[in-house]
Amino acid sequence: MVNFLKFHDSFQEVVVLDTTRRIAIRLVTPHDKALLQQGFDSLSDESRLRRFMAEKRFLSQQELVYFTEVDQMDHFALGMVLLDESGNEKEGIAIGRFIRLPGDAETAEVGLTVADSMQGHGLGQLLLERLISAAQERGIKRFRFECLAYNHAMKQLVLKVCKEAVFRYDEGVMIAEATLPAPSWVPPVYNPLDLMDGAVRQMQSMLSDALKYQSGVGMDLLRQSLDAPFKLKL
Ligand SMILES: CC(C)(COP(=O)(O)OP(=O)(O)OC[C@H]1O[C@@H](n2cnc3c(N)ncnc32)[C@H](O)[C@@H]1OP(=O)(O)O)[C@@H](O)C(=O)NCCC(=O)NCCS
Repeated sequence: MVNFLKFHDSFQEVVVLDTTRRIAIRLVTPHDKALLQQGFDSLSDESRLRRFMAEKRFLSQQELVYFTEVDQMDHFALGMVLLDESGNEKEGIAIGRFIRLPGDAETAEVGLTVADSMQGHGLGQLLLERLISAAQERGIKRFRFECLAYNHAMKQLVLKVCKEAVFRYDEGVMIAEATLPAPSWVPPVYNPLDLMDGAVRQMQSMLSDALKYQSGVGMDLLRQSLDAPFKLKL
């Protein structure tokens, strides 16, 4: 996949949930079928119903392929994985995706699921905010959410993150459409020049300390040049 995107194949963010739990957020890959299956198996009937708007007992092989083998442009999927003490991935706990509508390249439909035991900790919000950033860099301007009309949690989440949305209801289904707000979360970009600048400053300070107790004209000149402000320029 093209790498000028911030949400590219090797994107990874680690979030500290509390004193004992750390979570990695990363793009879903074709190797995630077992994690997805495990996550689905752990979901309550109610969460499955809310996510798929129908009773759902299992995921077929075709669905596992569909949900994990995505192009990350028109169908983008982001997962949250609980890490163990050594930083290894332990358990899939949330997944979010958007799929660009075939007839409207600037609108995408969103699906979100947070494991029952992890709901109410802000993960749905975290995921939706990142989906918005990823969608915007893929030229998407609007999100469409389709869920059961009584899914109050989803309605509140959409309102909280998207700020404004238009809701309509049709035979027990709620359809929300929201123009994407300015991203509330942007992945940090490290400028290599700033990193080098910092490294040189550190060296300057270490050398100055080392020369503190030396004397002589040559040493004075060296000390002056080390004290001069340093800034890398292109
Ligand atoms: C809907 C869902 C994704 C929300 O994820 P979550 O991690 O539990 O939500 P968060 O903790 O991030 O909550 C963020 C905001 O959403 C709203 N919200 C979440 N759960 C809520 C609830 N039970 N009642 C009312 N508002 C709720 C609140 O505005 C909340 O902000 P607040 O905590 O400051 O009040 C999650 O409950 C879920 O996976 N449900 C099952 C599947 C589903 O319904 N998917 C949606 C269809 S695509």
